[in-house]
Amino acid sequence: MYNSKIIGLGKYVPENVVTNNDLSKLMDTNDAWIQERTGIKERRWIDKNSEDTSAVMGAKAARIAIERSGLTKDDIDFIVFATLSPDYYFPGCGVQIQDMLEMPTIGALDVRNQCSGFIYAVSVADQFIKTGMYKNILVIGAEYHSGGLDKTTRGRSVSVIFGDGAGAAVMSRAENTDHGILSSHLHSEGKYAKELIVEGPNIKHWVPQMLEENNPDDISYFPYMNGQHVFKHAVVRFSEAIMEGLAANKLEKEAIDMLIPHQANLRISQFIQKKFGLRDNQVFNNIQKYGNTTAASVIIALTEAWEAGKIKDNDLVVLAAFGSGFTWGSVVIRW
Ligand code: UT7
Repeated sequence: MYNSKIIGLGKYVPENVVTNNDLSKLMDTNDAWIQERTGIKERRWIDKNSEDTSAVMGAKAARIAIERSGLTKDDIDFIVFATLSPDYYFPGCGVQIQDMLEMPTIGALDVRNQCSGFIYAVSVADQFIKTGMYKNILVIGAEYHSGGLDKTTRGRSVSVIFGDGAGAAVMSRAENTDHGILSSHLHSEGKYAKELIVEGPNIKHWVPQMLEENNPDDISYFPYMNGQHVFKHAVVRFSEAIMEGLAANKLEKEAIDMLIPHQANLRISQFIQKKFGLRDNQVFNNIQKYGNTTAASVIIALTEAWEAGKIKDNDLVVLAAFGSGFTWGSVVIRW
């Protein structure tokens, strides 16, 4: 058995900054409500004239991660791409990356686990590297939310939260088995699938039917979230996933050097920080700038924390996420 470690990180966010005040021109909302309930000050939304998509942003982040890893695109053996907003219904974004980066005809896997997507993707890559099947894997989380949000007052409880962006990591076989990915834990509870969902079109209510009905009140193709229900589960599952990761490695919460929580809501991160007794410099948050970028949020935050010099060799880094599915999980890394 081998160990895997992260050897390159990159991120890309669209240039277009949308502030809370900008949103108040589109819908009945205001800066005070958004900041108080979520901590978000602004987010990036792809400009409609831009060529950015989930795959395009993912490719931009990936190029940076590969360059920083010291490898070349030809050294990559496999691609794992996590998103809930793929460019096409099918095929997934993974194959687009293989093409955009002009890589050899390596395998490309798409992960559909929403906010936990990057955690699931890292876990999958880790298993492939552990068994020796692949040596270098490109793992991407990217999200183009702004194209699919209801930007009217009707959709305000969801649309003010989500932002666009992408991050990428190169994972590689580690020579030192004490370092790298120490563990990953993944969970789901499908009975809550409809509490955070984009329901339409679906296989029983497909596009021709929707066009025929031409119903302006059909909001099934916009994201729906039962916010308070999701919030209550999030704080419990985040804690469980972190505890599970620590316990599996026989570590106490005091061992955490840096917690990178999925950026769902600053209040959730603060709750977890308090519960685990962590100082401000032990938890990294950037939801204030980017909103919730679902599958991209953990990898954008990890990249920014690393770029800012907040993650050093030998640090214990914990990644954790919870979201639609419900799905949740954690990854524990000895950097
Ligand atoms: O990433 C996946 C995981 N996601 C999460 O973990 C998110 C979890 N949930 C949350 O973060 C919070 O539930 C939200 C931020 C989504 C919502 O906050 P909340 O405190 O639960 O607010 P609420 O939905 O209960 O709404 C409270 C009030 C309502 O008005 P009334 O009925 O009290 O008159 C809403 O209509 O706030 C109103 N409201 C807004 N007002 C201004 C809802 N959205 C907005 C808005 N601006 N954007």
